[in-house]
Amino acid sequence: MSEQPQEPIQSTEQQQEKKEQIVTPWDVDAGDDGVDYGKLINQFGSQAISEDLLERIERVTKKPVHHFLKRGIFFSHRDMHKLLDYYEQGKPFYLYTGRGPSSESMHLGHLIPFMFTKYLQDVFDVPLVVQMTDDEKFLWKKLELEEAHRLTYENAKDIIACGFDMSKTFIFSNLDYMGHLYRTVLEIEKSVTCSQVKGVFGFEDSDNIGKFSFPAIQAAPSFYTSFPHIFPETAEDKKKQKKTKRKNDIMCLIPCAIDQDPYFRVTRDVAPKLGFQKPALIHSKFFPALQGANKKMSSSSDTSSIFLTDTPKQIKDKINKHAFSGGGATKEDQEKYGANLAVDVPYQYLQFFLEDDVQLEDIREKYSTGKMLTGQVKGALIDLLQKMVAEHQERRKKITDEQVKEFLSVRKLSFTMPTKKEVVPSATTEAKKE
Ligand code: TYM
Repeated sequence: MSEQPQEPIQSTEQQQEKKEQIVTPWDVDAGDDGVDYGKLINQFGSQAISEDLLERIERVTKKPVHHFLKRGIFFSHRDMHKLLDYYEQGKPFYLYTGRGPSSESMHLGHLIPFMFTKYLQDVFDVPLVVQMTDDEKFLWKKLELEEAHRLTYENAKDIIACGFDMSKTFIFSNLDYMGHLYRTVLEIEKSVTCSQVKGVFGFEDSDNIGKFSFPAIQAAPSFYTSFPHIFPETAEDKKKQKKTKRKNDIMCLIPCAIDQDPYFRVTRDVAPKLGFQKPALIHSKFFPALQGANKKMSSSSDTSSIFLTDTPKQIKDKINKHAFSGGGATKEDQEKYGANLAVDVPYQYLQFFLEDDVQLEDIREKYSTGKMLTGQVKGALIDLLQKMVAEHQERRKKITDEQVKEFLSVRKLSFTMPTKKEVVPSATTEAKKE
């Protein structure tokens, strides 16, 4: 069992009292300079992703790390070293991520965790579960149940279009799957009090009671017992569990933006009480709103977001009209002083999506020293995003209703549960032994 100390859990009010940036699953509000991610690591009690961890991931996977890792876009984690220790020892783990289907179309920010999850599935060759929280969106938004359910299927197409391997991926609607999930949900509900949930999420007595129990529903897929069709337990397992009061050693890794972390602080708190391994997490920064880095891109504002359904013209107009520029106010100023890249939205978007390091470095150097103008950088971004979104739309169009049904069907996944694996020694595990 993990023997880590309790992690600090801060409520929204505590964040506000200290006049700190607000980062919750519903709201991101930072100062003019954008979110201070270093501060957030301290506030949330997670760990920064170090060079050592990146090097270890490369060594274990025998592949270069994703550019999201190289560029610090995924910047924080919980228990990644433990997860890699397990992996090296040949113990199984699975990936878990999710989406709250509140709108017909997802935006570019939503792609970040899914693109990264696809990389993780490819390099680790592990099963993936994707929770579609149509129940959450019904409880929080003005949305009919059936509409939320329909949006699950619409959004699932966007997720599938990211290229996940059907034989290793299970996507589920909470509305459909709750019967399977409920036993694990109940175990969690019994171990978390109302005051804990109020403290972490800032719920009030006037909030509907569904909100109070929802954290248990988002927590449940972090525990493998939520998926008996994927991780069946034998009679022998159950006998052993009774004796040791510990469940099987199957860990879960959750890639998400850091706004979802409060859910998993509660999950990690409850895990040892129920005999489970705490899930590991890997957190991304926010893909910013067009207006600037102090807000995340969000579905609720059309002018702050680029959607996966946008046409080439819409993409061009949104970037030209709304993307906040850190460039000089005039051509002369830009040529003289160069651009402030820390606040420049077009450059930040390129950091997320322009994979070519050489091209990105060329733009960085020229734009920051005034050899390139904002219009040129915006032009490069428009070309890149128009192509990327059009390709996504093309892949999405080809996904049939049958394929969606198959991804969402309760079935065995095809992967080999590692029983015995050659242990790859790593600098970290070696160092620990010394
Ligand atoms: P949702 O639908 O708000 O967001 C889906 C995923 O996208 C991430 N995200 C972003 N990432 C980068 N930049 C942004 N601007 C941005 N906006 C959103 C979110 O962190 C999330 O990873 N309650 C969840 C659904 C959920 C879930 C999970 C998410 C259920 N189980 C497990 C992650 C992991 C929700 O409404 O996400």
